[in-house]
Amino acid sequence: MAIFLTGSTGYIGAHVAASLLDSHGASLNVLVRGKDTQEAALRLWNGIQLHMDFPRFYEYLQTRIRIFPGDLTSPQFGLNRDDYDRLIHTTDSVIHCAASLNRKSEKSCLNVNLRGTLEVLQLARRSHYYHGLRRFSNVSTVAVAGKRSNEVVTEDRSIDWNRSDYDPYARTKKFCEHMVRELLPDVPITIFRPSIVLGDSRFPETTQFDMVRAFVFLASLKALPFRPNDKIDIVNVDFVADAIATLHQKAEPKYDTYHLSSGRDSQTFREVTTALAAAQQKRGPVFLPVFEKPFSSVVNSLANRSGSLAHGAALMKVFMPYLVWNTVFDNTRVTAELGRKPVPFSQYSSGLLNFSRDSNFTYNYKPWPAASAGGSAA
Ligand SMILES: NC(=O)c1ccc[n+]([C@@H]2O[C@H](COP(=O)([O-])OP(=O)(O)OC[C@H]3O[C@@H](n4cnc5c(N)ncnc54)[C@H](OP(=O)(O)O)[C@@H]3O)[C@@H](O)[C@H]2O)c1
Repeated sequence: MAIFLTGSTGYIGAHVAASLLDSHGASLNVLVRGKDTQEAALRLWNGIQLHMDFPRFYEYLQTRIRIFPGDLTSPQFGLNRDDYDRLIHTTDSVIHCAASLNRKSEKSCLNVNLRGTLEVLQLARRSHYYHGLRRFSNVSTVAVAGKRSNEVVTEDRSIDWNRSDYDPYARTKKFCEHMVRELLPDVPITIFRPSIVLGDSRFPETTQFDMVRAFVFLASLKALPFRPNDKIDIVNVDFVADAIATLHQKAEPKYDTYHLSSGRDSQTFREVTTALAAAQQKRGPVFLPVFEKPFSSVVNSLANRSGSLAHGAALMKVFMPYLVWNTVFDNTRVTAELGRKPVPFSQYSSGLLNFSRDSNFTYNYKPWPAASAGGSAA
């Protein structure tokens, strides 16, 4: 039997897959987009190569990873009947990590997050019907808390149906949590809500550059329209992935919902930008909070141009609401249960930013070695 993991080619999902394989001896059924198993295996290798060399990956592929080439937005993931049945009957728990993070697209969030999650829930219900499901873990986001200002939000006070959401992403992820709870009433459920996931505290390499670009953009500015002592809740991906894998595998986690965040230990803008400036051997910015509105206008107009500054500005525009809400997410539950805290961003940010700038925000993927065939098919 295996854990059905979605989103294993993504930034967090690949970290979770590596942790489950390396540290928990788990077997995985992975849903990966691709026209066939071979293409899906290559995409999985791209995602996971930050964590292991090819021989180890290949060994796992032969013994503990079963690839189901499919898409969340297709009925029964687009699998043929035999493969779908095999998925039902070999899945004993689910970690649903895949999502569309496209905050600008209602359509993409509707299709991937809502229709896709419903499809994963149908699979879970079928597996539960035939042989019982040990656990369903849903990777959500702190953004489900909606519009906030100057708060420390606890898990139980996060969802408020009378509150407006920032964007389609937050709105659809909020409803995903609701669907999970409503449609799996007799399955143990764990909801994970990461905050801003940025970088691995163990090494500078990354395959995901969106937030890094936004931060490099910020670091390039001499004046910032933020209040210097506002906090920003950033968490390292290795902490997030370890928490998801460990709590999913635990027989009885204490709670059904966890913020995977830095909480009250979150750093202030001044602390973060001082570290970023030091990494670039520049002076830190001055803070001019009264310019928040004009800054947003400049970002909006820069975002419509071309070039890397424009790309940074476009990302900035999307993340801006999350940067000015001065809200952090209480992490007492997860830190007590894991017995440790996330690593402060300022301790590892310089490596991450240097790597990202030096590589021009691209990851140089190692190819699939010519001599090896594709992976274990569904
Ligand atoms: N990154 C953050 O700061 C952050 C913060 C809070 C919560 N989260 C949550 O963490 C989870 C993972 O995020 P991430 O940052 O790792 O995102 P990511 O790197 O964009 O990965 C998204 C994953 O979802 C998969 N996916 C998207 N559409 C799909 C579809 N139609 N069918 C099958 N798979 C599909 C992607 O597959 P492809 O490789 O085929 O595109 C990829 O594996 C999400 O649930 C997100 O809401 C992230």
